[in-house]
Amino acid sequence: MFDRIAKRYDLMNSVMTAGLHDEWRRRAVKVAGVKPGDHVLDVATGTGDLAFELARAVAPGGSVTGADFSEEMLSVARQKQGSEATGLDAEIVFEQGNALDLKYDDDTFDAVTVGFGVRNFSDLAAGLTEMARVVRPGGKFVILEISQPQKGALSYFYKAWFDGLVPFIGKFAGEDSAYTYLPNSVKRFAKPEALAAVLHEAGTEQVGWISLAGGIITIHHGVVV
Ligand SMILES: C[S@@+](CC[C@H](N)C(=O)[O-])C[C@H]1O[C@@H](n2cnc3c(N)ncnc32)[C@H](O)[C@@H]1O
Repeated sequence: MFDRIAKRYDLMNSVMTAGLHDEWRRRAVKVAGVKPGDHVLDVATGTGDLAFELARAVAPGGSVTGADFSEEMLSVARQKQGSEATGLDAEIVFEQGNALDLKYDDDTFDAVTVGFGVRNFSDLAAGLTEMARVVRPGGKFVILEISQPQKGALSYFYKAWFDGLVPFIGKFAGEDSAYTYLPNSVKRFAKPEALAAVLHEAGTEQVGWISLAGGIITIHHGVVV
């Protein structure tokens, strides 16, 4: 599915979030607390937007590895590298990888991030455990994900937007199934409390989360033990 939508993915993100997704990624990078010289892994990196944001934070001298199992998404990320990373003194590598079976040694990275990816993992606990494995003790683990606002006026807006507008725009763009899958996958996915418990079990402590946009977006964070 991600191979198929790769070329339209960035445009769809901008339309469907009214451009807010960039700000959400900036917040996630702040929560990760990465600094110049750090080495960071961005899992399910897709077209690389979170990886580029991380690269700005780890320059000069740091590196970002973006791993994803969709070659087409990675190909878009690599094409953007020229425009997004020009003049940036940070190494950025995009490479094929499955979150559930990463090829890196234990304790390789200072932090690991994943943006809008964990919802798609076939085994959430296995994926988070594998991601924690490759981060050194004391390193940060950050998850940026869509969530369902539980109450308040925004929950009505969210319903209209996610159940109505998103599939409609998807249909218009000729990507019916992907953008019907999107709201359904959010509904099926773990609530923040449950995801925090899985993140803790995966090998992190000081677990917490921050709600953005009235609960539509959640940034989970933990420190690897
Ligand atoms: C919605 S996109 C998010 C892309 C990017 N992180 C962003 O912030 O826009 C989800 C990505 O997760 C990738 N993905 C899903 N499951 C994965 C897995 N088990 N291992 C690696 N990548 C995965 C997909 O290929 C896709 O590129």
